[in-house]
Amino acid sequence: MAGATYDDRDGWIWMDGEWTAWRDAKVHVLTHALHYASSVFEGERAYDGEIFESRAHSDRLAASAKALDFELPIDSAQLDAVKAEAVRRNGLNDAYVRAIAWRGSEMMGVSAQHNTIHVGVAAWSWGAYYGDAREKGARLDLAKWRRPSPETIPCHAKAAGLYMICTLSKHEAERKGYSDALMLDYRGYVAEATGANVFFAKDGVVHTPTPDCFLDGITRRAVIGLLQARGVEVVERHIEIEELEGFEQCFLTGTAAEVTPVAEIGPYSFEVGALAKEAMTAYDSLVRRKVAA
Ligand SMILES: Cc1ncc(COP(=O)(O)O)c(C=O)c1O
Repeated sequence: MAGATYDDRDGWIWMDGEWTAWRDAKVHVLTHALHYASSVFEGERAYDGEIFESRAHSDRLAASAKALDFELPIDSAQLDAVKAEAVRRNGLNDAYVRAIAWRGSEMMGVSAQHNTIHVGVAAWSWGAYYGDAREKGARLDLAKWRRPSPETIPCHAKAAGLYMICTLSKHEAERKGYSDALMLDYRGYVAEATGANVFFAKDGVVHTPTPDCFLDGITRRAVIGLLQARGVEVVERHIEIEELEGFEQCFLTGTAAEVTPVAEIGPYSFEVGALAKEAMTAYDSLVRRKVAA
């Protein structure tokens, strides 16, 4: 069913209350969101036909919208139903689900007081985000761009504007042959990858940056819970870049990335070790509902 581009496929996209043929789900060039990044979105995965943490994603979309000073015209229960139907209607079993809300075309200046809010939901097949990194470990560049301060931008919103930094960092990493980049924050502490949170392990203890200026991922929270339930100590704290020298293992978490071990971050190397593998296996079981959460 997949065509060469994302606008040329068979299937159905839900847009503003209607199921629209995939190729007809269009917006006008004079759309506020396109000019001023006034949009928020979610990336979710369905496993065996069921979306993992659908309600948490719907609630986060509403919270991101609020952070950008708008309200969704749909509540979380309605959105959950639409997302589930998007998976079903497109004949998918394992799927990636994208919900997005954006400001429309009524006003075209910086002010958007009277723009209507639009919502769309699409779903498609999407395999492993980092290819064969589950076995070998992903290779990450150290980005020159930093996550901004909470005083600069609503940093906990999953807002399109925040991804400008991620695309720039990822492009530069890819040009150098890496698959992603690790970004520091505005203070110089380790923050996250361009679409995933980061964890490190040393002497059986897991360390992960405090999410005080970046997304506290839904996968991140699930993996912390899984590790703690297995008796693993997880420390959330500020991590200095020099500390990477001493960590033995590293892995990323995210809806798209799932749990992916990391073999390299710039000059620092890590083994694909037992804790990274345990987190990966436990998460796989959780999302496929093979163990209790
Ligand atoms: C920048 C960034 N950080 C972290 C995450 C992980 O968030 P989640 O686990 O909720 O998908 C994502 C993915 O959505 C992301 O884009």
